[in-house]
Amino acid sequence: MINKHEKVEKSVGLFFIFTIFAISIGGLVEITPLFFQKETTQPVDNLRPYTALEMEGRDIYIREGCNVCHSQMIRPFRAETERYGHYSVAGEGVWEHPFLWGSKRTGPDLARVGGRYSDDWHRAHLIDPRSVVPESNMPSFKWLTENTLDGELTAKKLETFNFLTRNRSHKDAQGNPIPLYSAEDIANAKTAVKGKTEMDALIAYLQSLGHALK
Ligand code: HEC
Repeated sequence: MINKHEKVEKSVGLFFIFTIFAISIGGLVEITPLFFQKETTQPVDNLRPYTALEMEGRDIYIREGCNVCHSQMIRPFRAETERYGHYSVAGEGVWEHPFLWGSKRTGPDLARVGGRYSDDWHRAHLIDPRSVVPESNMPSFKWLTENTLDGELTAKKLETFNFLTRNRSHKDAQGNPIPLYSAEDIANAKTAVKGKTEMDALIAYLQSLGHALK
């Protein structure tokens, strides 16, 4: 009698194919429904797009690697929600490209840091973290006060975000998608940021974080 099971177990190729097949079913069952759930694909009600200045600040956040030490993802556990506020939900992140959830916390989570400190506190902290938190081991980012933005690419960034979020923006009364940025926002983007420092932009970004859901 031919033992079919043995045939599969003794052939690396066949075994490989069947293993991938078995794992894919598990993966598809978990992941596929998320593409169709409104909760995970639509913005939460109070979500607003980043302003031009916040958008520039976000790019500086990425450039400086802030996300290497800071997550932006509050998990639904009591220890987290008591410290940071409401846990993060997918609808807050539908316009994030790339998302900055992160997985490593050398410093605290920043998903809801907006409004927790004053702009002056952030400025002092980013110039010299130990001036406000003596035991801090966060590096100084003082050069951000010296670099000014020229705004040359800001309008392009807003246009790109309109494109990236075209299927996930808010809808008007007729159900038509409202682009994140209007033609006016795009036309004004350069003047909105030109001459501001990178520090101004980064602080504006930090202050914008997490307001959609408190
Ligand atoms: C090497 C790791 C590291 C990097 C890189 C880093 N941080 Fe931090 N950050 C920390 C640590 C540790 C703390 C906690 C101590 C403190 O408050 O300074 C902290 C605290 C903070 C806080 C206060 C959060 C709170 O809730 O009290 C903010 C805001 C912050 N960092 C922003 C930034 C920004 C913006 C950048 C990038 C420009 C950055 N960090 C880069 C480690 C880091």
